[in-house]
Amino acid sequence: MKADLVVKNGQVVTPQQTFNGGVAISGGRIVAVNTDDALPDATRVIDVKGQHILPGLIDAHVHFRDPGLTHKEDFATGSAAAVCGGITTVVDMPNVIPPTENAEQIGVKKKIAESKSLCDFAVLGVIHQTNVADILPMAKAGAIGYKIFFGETIGNLPFPDDGMCMEVFPAITESKIPLCTHAENRQIQHYYTNKMKAEGKGNPIYWEDTRPWICEAEAINHIIFLAENFGTKLHIVHCSTKQGAMMVKDAKARGLRVTAETGPHYLLREPKDMAEAGPLLKMNPPVRTKDHGEVLWRGLNEGFIDMIATDHSPHTLEEKGCDINGKMLKPAIWDCISGFCGVETSVPLMLTQVNAGRMTINQYVKVASENPARVWQMYPKKGSLNIGADGDLTIVDMNKEAVIDPRKLHSKNVPTPWGGWKVKGVPTCSIVRGNVQMQDGEPVGKAVGRMQTPVVYW
Ligand code: DOR
Ligand code: ZN
Repeated sequence: MKADLVVKNGQVVTPQQTFNGGVAISGGRIVAVNTDDALPDATRVIDVKGQHILPGLIDAHVHFRDPGLTHKEDFATGSAAAVCGGITTVVDMPNVIPPTENAEQIGVKKKIAESKSLCDFAVLGVIHQTNVADILPMAKAGAIGYKIFFGETIGNLPFPDDGMCMEVFPAITESKIPLCTHAENRQIQHYYTNKMKAEGKGNPIYWEDTRPWICEAEAINHIIFLAENFGTKLHIVHCSTKQGAMMVKDAKARGLRVTAETGPHYLLREPKDMAEAGPLLKMNPPVRTKDHGEVLWRGLNEGFIDMIATDHSPHTLEEKGCDINGKMLKPAIWDCISGFCGVETSVPLMLTQVNAGRMTINQYVKVASENPARVWQMYPKKGSLNIGADGDLTIVDMNKEAVIDPRKLHSKNVPTPWGGWKVKGVPTCSIVRGNVQMQDGEPVGKAVGRMQTPVVYW
């Protein structure tokens, strides 16, 4: 029987092995993974000679800003940036306007995104002080999980206080889907921010001092305690500290279902880089010194940090308070908004590190595809090359070199601290359920993106 699409003559990569061959897709699903001579005939054949065929890569932390903040990004531009960056599925954050805080808003986002997304997506519902009754309905409406913003961040969503957590956590546990948390202690944030302001330390290099390691670590400790007591599946987003990473390691060792992600900026950048990158590198939590990055690298390689996710958070340059090169145009770093683009640059940055020997390509596939799918309960439909899995592939050329150019990114606004970075290892084709959505760095497909709901509960 003829397949719809065969991608062949590549090196197929799974977390366990790399072998010469290809993948066949029919009806949007994988029907064969094999050496070239054993693949079926197909209506369309893509010869990827010399390149690697990876399961579709997942960015489990993006802010596509739709609805309500579409002057920053929307699902059309965000998903174009995703597929151009080799990402075939994203998990979208709920700090939009109105917030994704009840079943109705889950449905609103599904409708918006399915009308314009080039990639598949899953949606998180936010939990705050007054919507405990919406927790189970959001799961029924197809949320992949929940988010609580314990730290102060964009959207200023009020988090549930400790008393309300006595109701919130059991409800989350009952829903069988995970909770992810932005883990920063607001009072510690405020204390240090006020101190920096009083001392007039408005230079970008001091941004980390407003949220030192203890700010994140205290919050992670607190949340793990709640999750452990209420039996809640917990995922820590953008883990930036070695102390936080070790708490996640300990929780795993105790048998808890606690997972964590980190991003390229926490692995490759430091506070001193803010002298040059300025507000472009301003993010919450902030980038930290190398000793933190080293532990996060170890975590990714040893398995106590589960995944790479970017926290893609675009803003206009005016909101960022700087020009495209990072020159600060506002009086102080606290006047500049935090967040920057990441969904399009993560794969080339990380493949460059694979080429440099910091991680095997098999382990990269694990932390950039299999693990995000497992944590968000989409595995093995997503995150695998199993027969019957969605036909999502990311083709990468490990020998191709490029320089990251902000003007070539596909987001609506392109503030990035990665401009000028040389990369070796570039995505050349993104395939979503058998549809070619990016070829040679440009979006080519239609709005085929579909909302993903949990396929297993574990
Ligand atoms: O710096 C940040 N910006 N951190 C977050 O957690 C949210 C994000 C945003 O939405 O812009
Ligand atoms: Zn975020």
